[in-house]
Amino acid sequence: VSETGSLSIIVLGASGDLAKKKTFPALFNLYHQGFLNPDEVHIFGYARSKISDEELRDKIHGYLVDEKNASEKAEALSKFLKLIKYVSGPYDSEEGFKRLDKAISEHEISKKTSEGSSRRLFYLALPPSVYPSVSKMIKAWCTNKSDLGGWTRIVVEKPFGKDLESAEQLSSQIGALFDEPQIYRIDHYLGKELVQNMLVLRFANRLFLPLWNRDNIANVQIVFREDFGTEGRGGYFDEYGIIRDIIQNHLLQVLCLVAMEKPISLKPEHIRDEKVKVLQSVIPIKDEEVVLGQYEGYRDDPTVPNDSNTPTFATTILRIDNERWEGVPFILKAGKAMSSKKADIRIQFKDVPGDIFKCQNQGRNEFVIRLQPSEAMYMKLTVKQPGLEMQTVQSELDLSYKQRYQGVSIPEAYERLILDTIRGDQQHFVRRDELKAAWEIFTPLLHRIDKGEVKSIPYKQGSRGPAEADQLLKKAGYMQTHGY
Ligand code: BG6
Repeated sequence: VSETGSLSIIVLGASGDLAKKKTFPALFNLYHQGFLNPDEVHIFGYARSKISDEELRDKIHGYLVDEKNASEKAEALSKFLKLIKYVSGPYDSEEGFKRLDKAISEHEISKKTSEGSSRRLFYLALPPSVYPSVSKMIKAWCTNKSDLGGWTRIVVEKPFGKDLESAEQLSSQIGALFDEPQIYRIDHYLGKELVQNMLVLRFANRLFLPLWNRDNIANVQIVFREDFGTEGRGGYFDEYGIIRDIIQNHLLQVLCLVAMEKPISLKPEHIRDEKVKVLQSVIPIKDEEVVLGQYEGYRDDPTVPNDSNTPTFATTILRIDNERWEGVPFILKAGKAMSSKKADIRIQFKDVPGDIFKCQNQGRNEFVIRLQPSEAMYMKLTVKQPGLEMQTVQSELDLSYKQRYQGVSIPEAYERLILDTIRGDQQHFVRRDELKAAWEIFTPLLHRIDKGEVKSIPYKQGSRGPAEADQLLKKAGYMQTHGY
């Protein structure tokens, strides 16, 4: 695979929300940091609306810089915007895609490097309903035809289907057109700094190796909270709900990295093999280990049906039936319109046998990895309270990224992942069998929810979610610590 030559990045759905808020800003940041060579790269927007190059540039302009850094980045911005061209056309018409191919080919001729290879990256910032037709059109009209090498890759975003059957159908449709190494299924949580840190933490620290198992760990929590509701996305959200939106993908991916065995190397296939094994070891979820919630006011959105049972909050307990994890609950929790915006992984260790200090009820050891906001890791330890008395207190070994890595900017998940797609590194992307195994875990529960057999309990906006969820955590053996 040649890694030089012309590079065309084609953003399909160029005027949609995802493209404006995530894809183009990530591309601009890569450009600004020198990862996109202006002698090679060209960016194409494709969408249905009939607008000019200039109009597309105007639409995205405001998302690329903020007031604080606008003047510092002004020159780079104007050069970057000039690299963007727009082609309009429907998502299922030969004619549109032929025009797109023509535009890409012209660019390739104008930017021929000595190797003359052609790299074409298609980013589908589109609803999944059009993935099959768009993939067909790309395959038929727009793939790389250079004799001198290069590649064609496509990037797709969740939701990949609504359940096991629809996901498999989608995978087969796309799989009939492109080979697995050409397909990049993004789960943007895999691009987050502290998620990427997980394997280093686990496998490069002697400290954790002997502790990371059922003998020492009481429970694991992976929690996502947002302090706002569905905000104008009610129609989309109501079809999917919080399990499909967050838990089945983002939180489950994190669970894999927490629970997997050490891969034999860092090769993407070796890592993904281990993740699949974790997913395949999860036993069916029991209804009594699920609490669903829906925030009050959710149904006020005119695009949401009055009798919707769609959960905006869920706590589910997953159990991994293998030697390392048998008996350890993995608690996955996600909610919209909650009291705070936070995502973290919380590993709670077991009690110390023989509690000579009588400090058990002060709390257990916990290792917390805060994915966002303010990336951090801290370890809760029991220490002697400073002073003349022999008293104990819970304290923290605290690694806060802002303090420790001052001046280092943490890349946005999308920046990193787009760079990986250009480099051909699939480690942080979801493989087809991984996706299938993830749907196998949640599909039976999702079908019961869709039929109304598992009900969502109302909760107040800005709260912790239904009280039943805290009771479930307690039942699962989670010992609440101070301030959490
Ligand atoms: C998306 C979900 O995948 O992730 C959204 O569809 C959610 O509902 C978003 O708000 C959260 O991403 P982040 O990076 O802000 O945690």
